[in-house]
This record gives sequence, structure tokens and C-alpha cells, in this order.
Amino acid sequence: MTQLGKRIRDSQATISQVMLPTDANTHGNVHGGVIMKLVDDAGAIVATRHSRSIVVTVAVDSMTFLSAIYVGNLVTLTAALSYVGRSSMEVEVLVEAEDPLTGDKTHTNTAYVVYVALDDSGEPREVPPLVGETEEERQRIAEGCERQQARLTRRQKGT
Ligand SMILES: CC(C)(COP(=O)(O)OP(=O)(O)OC[C@H]1O[C@@H](n2cnc3c(N)ncnc32)[C@H](O)[C@@H]1OP(=O)(O)O)[C@@H](O)C(=O)NCCC(=O)NCCS
Repeated sequence: MTQLGKRIRDSQATISQVMLPTDANTHGNVHGGVIMKLVDDAGAIVATRHSRSIVVTVAVDSMTFLSAIYVGNLVTLTAALSYVGRSSMEVEVLVEAEDPLTGDKTHTNTAYVVYVALDDSGEPREVPPLVGETEEERQRIAEGCERQQARLTRRQKGT
């Protein structure tokens, strides 16, 4: 059954969390794994909203941390779809850290995470197509499609 398309803004999400001592090493630097989990959480919210089904993470593009995040920083993750296939959805997640005492904000990294929607039997299920509303959004989706093709080529090669 062909599904009606949904817009990027229909599922986009923002989550914020203050970094605590339990998130960091003894020098106060937040562990990369803490940020990776938050990235996955934010992306999963978007994919679930778009598909209205259970989703699993199938791929995460490499994550480079451009600057450190410290205990006390407010981390904000802004997540939105950048490509949708038949059952797969690529979400772009932007990570920003703010020192709430000074207001200084740093863009610490951007990640692309791919989720697959599953049916009740755990099989990939079709999701609504993604509708780009502007030329910029259509370009964003075209770039996401290229990244997905590159992932599938890497999967075929087993790399
Ligand atoms: C996700 C999963 C169900 C896909 O199963 P599969 O047998 O590869 O199914 P398919 O080949 O039909 O692929 C389903 C979709 O995933 C995409 N996909 C599969 N492998 C991918 C990869 N490495 N990168 C990006 N997309 C991928 C396919 O392109 C397809 O997308 P489409 O429907 O939009 O065309 C299966 O790989 C799985 O269960 N993985 C574990 C997920 C998990 O537990 N994640 C948490 C890790 S801790």
C-alpha cells in the first residue's frame, strides 16, 4: 500500500541534557560514548515519529568530536531526517554544547544515523516517503541518498 509522504518538520526533535560527573572522566571531560548514546536516542525519536513503528539502528557514520564537552555543559541535540528509503531512514544529528555560566556555545559534532522500521514480526516494513518542501530540503535529501548508496556499496564489499 502506498503511504502518504511526510515532511522533515513533522518528525524533527531537539533534546537537551546537562552533563553530570557520572558522564565524565576524572578531569571532567564527558565520555564520547555518552554523546553517542544521546545521538542514537535523538535519532531514534525522529525515526519513530516518522514511521510510527519500532526502529533499530543499522548504521552510524563515523563520529568526530571537534571540541571537548565538560561536566556542567548543557548538550543540545537537534535531529531531523535527511533521507528515507523503503524501510530505512537517515537522521542528521547536530550536537552543540553550551556553558550555561557564560552562554558560550560550541558545535561539537554532526552525525548521520540510519534506522530501519520493523513490523510485528521483526521484519523491515515500509515507511512513509519523505517530502522535501524547499529546494534546500530536496538537496539535503539527495545528499542523504548519496551517503546511503555509499553505505550499501561498503556493505556489499564487507567493509
Ligand atoms: C536492520 C535489519 C533488520 C536489516 O535487515 P536486512 O536483512 O539487512 O534487511 P534488508 O536487506 O531488507 O535491509 C533493510 C533496509 O536496511 C538498509 N540497510 C541494511 N544494511 C544497511 C547498512 N549497513 N547501512 C545502511 N542501510 C542498511 C537496506 O538498504 C534497507 O533499506 P530500504 O528498505 O530503505 O531499501 C538487520 O540488519 C538487523 O536486525 N540488524 C540489527 C539491528 C540492531 O539490533 N541494532 C542495534 C545494534 S546494538
